[in-house]
Amino acid sequence: MKTDEIIAQEKKYIFQTYSRYPVVITKGKGMKVFDNNGKQYLDFLGGIAVDTLGHCHPKVTAAVRNQINKLVHISNLYYTLPQIKLAKLLCQLSGLDRCFFGNSGAEANEAAIKLARKYAKEKLGAEKFEIITTKGSFHGRTMATLTATGQEKIHKGFEPLLPGFKYVNFNDILDLESAINEKTCAIFLEPVQGEGGVVVPSKEYLSKVRKICDDKGLLLILDEIQTGVGRTGNYFAFQEYNILPDICTVAKGIGGGLPLGVMIASEKLASSFSYGTHGSTFGGGPVVCSAGLAVLETIIKDKLLKNAKETGAYFVEKLNSLKVKYKSIKEARGLGLMIGLEFSVLGKEIAGKLLEHGFIINCTNDNVLRFLPPLIVNRKQVDSLVAALDGVLEELKMQ
Ligand SMILES: Cc1ncc(COP(=O)(O)O)c(C=O)c1O
Repeated sequence: MKTDEIIAQEKKYIFQTYSRYPVVITKGKGMKVFDNNGKQYLDFLGGIAVDTLGHCHPKVTAAVRNQINKLVHISNLYYTLPQIKLAKLLCQLSGLDRCFFGNSGAEANEAAIKLARKYAKEKLGAEKFEIITTKGSFHGRTMATLTATGQEKIHKGFEPLLPGFKYVNFNDILDLESAINEKTCAIFLEPVQGEGGVVVPSKEYLSKVRKICDDKGLLLILDEIQTGVGRTGNYFAFQEYNILPDICTVAKGIGGGLPLGVMIASEKLASSFSYGTHGSTFGGGPVVCSAGLAVLETIIKDKLLKNAKETGAYFVEKLNSLKVKYKSIKEARGLGLMIGLEFSVLGKEIAGKLLEHGFIINCTNDNVLRFLPPLIVNRKQVDSLVAALDGVLEELKMQ
């Protein structure tokens, strides 16, 4: 089928919820993907922080192939080894104690919201159910997680929202403190806001939030769906800030491209998720968990945290060097390989032009170009992206 025909069929048969770029991607290897005409692209978006090891990493495909030949699915009414092994490794790497497996970020966050409410009702008092989240955040598209998301455009049309959520400014301790009252049970935030435009808080912010939670007996829930699994140069971004949340959610990068979401929590919350209180048919299946194990083991063995830190810092420096030439660039920022380049003008056209030149990135929050490459990216590939971006900005006659 020709590209035009494929696009026409998508427009006819699929709900038009995505504003897609006009390319059909058919295969990938490492940092590269290829379209149906054989054109090659360097992927600096990695499925929006999903393809942690790049495309079709041999360790992940071997783990999946091996498991698929043994057992694809069995109900969570039975024990399976890959799920238990992955939970153990996630607990060891995070410093938390117990996992619940779902299939996506929204499901991991949904589990976190339910667990926080249940724990609060049982241990803190029936009137404590309010969760404070931050403006500009993104937590998912289910009713609870879209309510938790601090963006009106995500809420619009789906009202009435779930009761019990409050929004405060991100990276603003005073605003947070003033929102806490006798009903508050938890504070829920992303360590670095992703969809909100790669917003990195001040160094002290998260430790201050942790202290507030300790002083007031509140739960700290960190949404690490985009920041987790090595993305920031740490297994989890909270390790950069030397704190430990009560609950942490992970998805995107953990499954090596397969759908896997996890909520990891401290032991004190364990008894609140008792038999029958929560569940998932597919969550933590043997195939996705085998992929998850291969991802984590490869991050450890290939020292990819170091690469994320070093190549990420190099990338930000290179992007910032473009600032001298283009006044419309406000700032390059990020943590590890979660990087944003903020413009004073809209960014979507720039991302579209880069695609024409063979580079995949995206634009978030209207004016922030976002780079979330696989953790295997190297300096040469970063140089080629920055040179292509320079060329595109000239082509678009950017100032
Ligand atoms: C921080 C964060 N939380 C939650 C989600 C929702 O994840 P999913 O799309 O897997 O439900 C996303 C997705 O972009 C995210 O970036």
